[in-house]
Amino acid sequence: MKGVILAGGLGTRMYPLTKITNKHLLPVYNKPMIYYPLQTLINAGIEDILIVTGGNNAGDFLRLLGNGNEFGLKHINYTYQEGEGGIAAALSLAEFFAAKDKVCIILGDNIIEKNIRKAVSTFERQKEGGKIMIKEVPDPQRFGVPVLEGDRIIRIEEKPKVPKSKYSVTGIYMYDSTVFDIIKTLKPSDRGELEITDVNNTYIERGQLAWEVLDGWWSDAGTFDSLMRASQLVAETGANKLD
Ligand code: G1P
Repeated sequence: MKGVILAGGLGTRMYPLTKITNKHLLPVYNKPMIYYPLQTLINAGIEDILIVTGGNNAGDFLRLLGNGNEFGLKHINYTYQEGEGGIAAALSLAEFFAAKDKVCIILGDNIIEKNIRKAVSTFERQKEGGKIMIKEVPDPQRFGVPVLEGDRIIRIEEKPKVPKSKYSVTGIYMYDSTVFDIIKTLKPSDRGELEITDVNNTYIERGQLAWEVLDGWWSDAGTFDSLMRASQLVAETGANKLD
């Protein structure tokens, strides 16, 4: 399976921190934010990785990570997203790289405590479709929220005012190669973006979206408060543990 880290966007929610640099280069405790999702993929056994950057200082990713030597990699692939088209638009840039393989995508501001290796290897064996990782959170209205019927997710609502479950859809997604055809059918949402939630809802309509509850803590780091919380969690308990 191939890995894709989405690290584009203009980071407007974090001005002025992101006025002259990319959000994913900001510090989370003692490392640049992008180190964490990169380590998450590597710990899951994924070493063929594409980083989709965009916005300010995209060249700094190359200066920071190079060919991934520090992480034990031989090579990292990079591409650039013009403007801000949303997560699904950023992912569409990975079609050529994926070359019909399955892909594991992680948002560049998602940080986890543990290891997704088991979830990834179960998905390796899944015949078709996609898989999401969900996590119980105190503030689901900030995220994509799964609507559950028994143990079935019947749809996902993006940032609902009244969340129908206590779970968030985390920014870790696994898809078969049909994801790129799905993205081509999407229309921009009210915030003018191609939404990853619409991708997931398409897989749900096909009856092909598996899910698992993520083990250990999870935090995004895309707002002032969540960035501080992520730093605290990393400092207190550590991130990307191997077991
Ligand atoms: C995005 C997704 C949302 C998901 C979240 C996870 O939100 O749209 O469904 O729960 O990432 O971090 P955004 O960061 O674009 O607000």
